[in-house]
Amino acid sequence: MSVPVPIVIDCDPGHDDALAILLAAGDPAVDLLAVTTVAGNQTLDKTTLNALRVCTVAGLTEVPVAAGCASPLVEPLRVAEDVHGVSGLDGPRFPAPAVVARPEHAVDLLARILAGHPEPVTLVPTAPLTNIALLLTRHPEVAGRIGEIVLMGGSTERGNTTPAAEFNIHTDPEAADIVFRSGVPLTMCGLNVTHQALATPEVVARFEALGTEPGRICAELLGFFAGTYRRLWGFPAPPVHDPVAVARVLDPGLVTCVDAHVAVELHGRHTRGATVVDLHGTLGRPPNARVAVALRTDAFWDRMVAAVAALGGGPGRGAPATGDGTGP
Ligand code: RIB
Ligand code: CA
Repeated sequence: MSVPVPIVIDCDPGHDDALAILLAAGDPAVDLLAVTTVAGNQTLDKTTLNALRVCTVAGLTEVPVAAGCASPLVEPLRVAEDVHGVSGLDGPRFPAPAVVARPEHAVDLLARILAGHPEPVTLVPTAPLTNIALLLTRHPEVAGRIGEIVLMGGSTERGNTTPAAEFNIHTDPEAADIVFRSGVPLTMCGLNVTHQALATPEVVARFEALGTEPGRICAELLGFFAGTYRRLWGFPAPPVHDPVAVARVLDPGLVTCVDAHVAVELHGRHTRGATVVDLHGTLGRPPNARVAVALRTDAFWDRMVAAVAALGGGPGRGAPATGDGTGP
């Protein structure tokens, strides 16, 4: 067994963010140091409450949770209530959170972890990049302590929020531009690859068959998400975007990537927030990202289901608590 990769997930739960947290919590290949939240799918208070709910289900009582930015750098916040519901995590009934958010700002927690951890830390943003952009601008001294940024966002093809732009990038294009131009090693898992991670009825049945609280939560999250994706986009099954970024970290062989230059469009009247991915090097600019292009879907779901199974937790309760809530 190789040494677990230390990671922080920066998220906006969000149904697929929830599965990303559960994957990281249950898979031994990563060491989840913290969960930070940002406004995106819903307002910051709701994404933070949802992160606490998911950490409770996962038994993550010693992993610090901290709230970050309540709005994008420039754009007004436009939540995705039509996708994730009023709570941001509609569908399942959650136990009351057994953990509380730390009082410090997410950006300060990220800077403290990066400065203090003995090894470089991988950041896994699965949300608008507002917190990460602020980290890089306010704490430039810790950029060298970031092993890699492996994000869910963008697309090599069409968008989902506009024909050109994917939600995480479109919500805060200025933040995304800062991150993609930062020079920090970066992997982009865009819609072109996350649309390969479809939670089919067979996948949902595997979560239900676990007979555990985390398994029930996953099945019910996916049931709600399926209704959204059928209603809004005619998908036969919902793509779970965010766990693909975690999967890339825990086993790079699950996600095939190519090096390419990626630019974030800030000024296009119809294309603002688009990720312009130069897959064939036609502009002659040096690559600034690894871009995910393929997913080993069956192996991905095997890993996802195994992680949730590892969380244990009986039918009526969350996974056993793992600590006293103090943590780093
Ligand atoms: O476009 C999909 C992304 O936007 C996912 O991260 C989803 O949770 C939303 O944040
Ligand atoms: Ca998300």
